[in-house]
Amino acid sequence: MAERYRRPEHWLDADWEAKAQENPLLAIMTTPCMSEAAPTDFSPGQLDDFFAKGRRLFDAHLKPLLEGLDPEGPVVEYGCGAGRIMKAVIDSGHPCAGIDISPTMLEHCRKLVPEASATWLLDEAGRCAAPSAQAVLVYSYSVLQHISSLERYITALDEMCRMLKPGGALAIQVNCEDFKAGPDAGYRTENFETYSLHFRPSRVGPYKRKEQDHWSGVYIGYDFLVRLLADRGVTAERWYYHNPHKPRAIWAVGHKR
Ligand SMILES: C[S@@+](CC[C@H](N)C(=O)[O-])C[C@H]1O[C@@H](n2cnc3c(N)ncnc32)[C@H](O)[C@@H]1O
Repeated sequence: MAERYRRPEHWLDADWEAKAQENPLLAIMTTPCMSEAAPTDFSPGQLDDFFAKGRRLFDAHLKPLLEGLDPEGPVVEYGCGAGRIMKAVIDSGHPCAGIDISPTMLEHCRKLVPEASATWLLDEAGRCAAPSAQAVLVYSYSVLQHISSLERYITALDEMCRMLKPGGALAIQVNCEDFKAGPDAGYRTENFETYSLHFRPSRVGPYKRKEQDHWSGVYIGYDFLVRLLADRGVTAERWYYHNPHKPRAIWAVGHKR
């Protein structure tokens, strides 16, 4: 397995736009190879690794969901970064658009994946110009755990559900070690804004930012996630671990009614 590379210390307090300007590939893919990447001109080897990882993620988590849906139906990635997964979606025949909070990430996405059908920048309220009720699949990978307020988290879910057409699939990857155990097992599952940092079941309090990894985010618990989606017309049907050997992130999958 590839060695992990820790993000630079000063990124603990950096926003996504700053990281995108400094080293966008490392901000997305924390591998030693990306630590050497330049802010703009990427080597062929780095790009090969980048898109190969996007393809693996697509094959494992999104391709099965597209089977049975309109083969030319539009797909949207929420938090698309530089477009490594979008490229695999487009190669599968679907038009794919991306949404992000960082203008520089979207600039890279447009250069690296010129076939993208659109890119939309979130506004200050966390909304974007993507049309409602058009997408056959809306997905998000490695984004929601970076949102540090419950209000913004809910806005993100709201936007994703809004874009889905009836029958369309939603697939969101979220980090939470609490999901499996649930509230009855004594694990905190709804830390909301009071404890907006990262909880682990073995801890009685929130991690302090410097003690933990390179993100801080809202962990809302599966039950609450299901309710939020249901309120927005999406029935959550199942979840599974992103990596069963490292059970800290799940994919939640559902469909728009
Ligand atoms: C780790 S990267 C993942 C990018 C892409 N999903 C991938 O896997 O290649 C996280 C991305 O989410 C974006 N992001 C962070 N907070 C966001 C938010 N509140 N709404 C939308 N995008 C956000 C960042 O700018 C960055 O491009």
